[in-house]
Amino acid sequence: MKISIIGQGYVGLTISVFASEHYEVVGFDSNQKIVDQLNMGISHIEGVESSRLQSLIKSGKYKASSKGADVQGSEIVVIAVPTPLSSEREPDLTFVEAACKTIGENLTGPSLIINESTSFPGTLRNFIKPAIERYSSNQIEHLYAISPERVDPGRGDFNQKNTPRLYSGLTSEATTKTREFYAKFCDTLVEVSSPEVAEAAKLFENTFRQVNIALVNEFAQIAHALGISVYETLDAANTKPYGFMKFTPSAGVGGHCIPVDPTYLAAVAEGHGAPATFIRRANEVNIAMSEYIVSRITKDNGGNLQDKSVLVVGVAYKPNVADVRETAAELVIQHLRSQGAVVSWHDDVVGSWKGESSAPLHGADITVVVTKHDSMDEKKILASAPYVFDTTGKVKGTKGL
Ligand SMILES: NC(=O)c1ccc[n+]([C@@H]2O[C@H](COP(=O)([O-])OP(=O)(O)OC[C@H]3O[C@@H](n4cnc5c(N)ncnc54)[C@H](O)[C@@H]3O)[C@@H](O)[C@H]2O)c1
Repeated sequence: MKISIIGQGYVGLTISVFASEHYEVVGFDSNQKIVDQLNMGISHIEGVESSRLQSLIKSGKYKASSKGADVQGSEIVVIAVPTPLSSEREPDLTFVEAACKTIGENLTGPSLIINESTSFPGTLRNFIKPAIERYSSNQIEHLYAISPERVDPGRGDFNQKNTPRLYSGLTSEATTKTREFYAKFCDTLVEVSSPEVAEAAKLFENTFRQVNIALVNEFAQIAHALGISVYETLDAANTKPYGFMKFTPSAGVGGHCIPVDPTYLAAVAEGHGAPATFIRRANEVNIAMSEYIVSRITKDNGGNLQDKSVLVVGVAYKPNVADVRETAAELVIQHLRSQGAVVSWHDDVVGSWKGESSAPLHGADITVVVTKHDSMDEKKILASAPYVFDTTGKVKGTKGL
């Protein structure tokens, strides 16, 4: 049985290797460079070993392609393309639309289309299905389902196999076939009554994290104003065995999910006349953290950062990954530069970013730790500048939140 997975990034490639154990998989991606690399057996995604990819390619179970015609004849097509925000920071379904075009123009027989891209409730029913039908020249009746991806790249304890998966189809046949598909490589499947519930659950999970991160970021500012340790206070609160979940403060939220998905929920809420004030405000608080941190650093350094050399340590959006999407480091750097600081950054996991390379970890006037990878040596961070501000709470003996 042939299946196609549209988009070979974090989500699509991960699913592809799991599905390749059971199906013949075409990993379709519009980026030719990624396709060429994958067909050479080189994985660009953490958690997908190149050796695993190579053996799947060798056994004929997997091939990457940028040709729409290769999607033809697929019995299942999974959509795993980006769902970012537009320049106005509103939902942008351009990539989903392009994926629908590929599917609509190339499928010549009925197929099960499953969306894994994160989007607002109603996307499958009111956007994906009509778009695919619009791009098809034939009158094929496809089956449609949603199964939002929950993978957390770089995480060891939970993966594709043991993370419970939500799913629902537009028809009961679509639901049944979706269950049969994922049951081959997921231990726990959770059926919900409609695609809209699955779509909303995914958004709410990430909104829950965004709002709690904003709350703890605000609390970090309150704790500092009160002259108490935010970390000690959180640890104290966390001794309560129920009704509390510990989140830790940071320079802001990064990644493709937490800073983005809540806006999808807010946009659909407002489109239906429901308020999303809490979600919008949480986003503002998280974005403002970078400015708060730079104001603290400026104050500690005589109220002026002009011509000071500042080293930002860790520009990935979270530890132990090379992913810089929506990283809080970007805003921290912007605010430092607007204060006249001469900013460089150190992150050997990322290596190069925005045309700049990782700088050595020494010789700065000021060091700001935004993300601490496990491979970063605490002593070296401490020795890198006479003043070190740690936003992660992981480097002992520094200034911090
Ligand atoms: N990365 C995660 O941890 C994660 C977790 C849960 C959900 N999601 C969601 O999954 C979706 C995909 O995210 P990702 O992290 O895999 O993105 P990604 O950027 O890593 O990969 C997306 C891939 O899609 C390709 N692409 C773009 N447009 C295409 C098109 N029209 N046809 C074919 N390929 C196309 C890109 O070249 C890229 O390789 C998003 O909706 C995201 O919010 C991601």
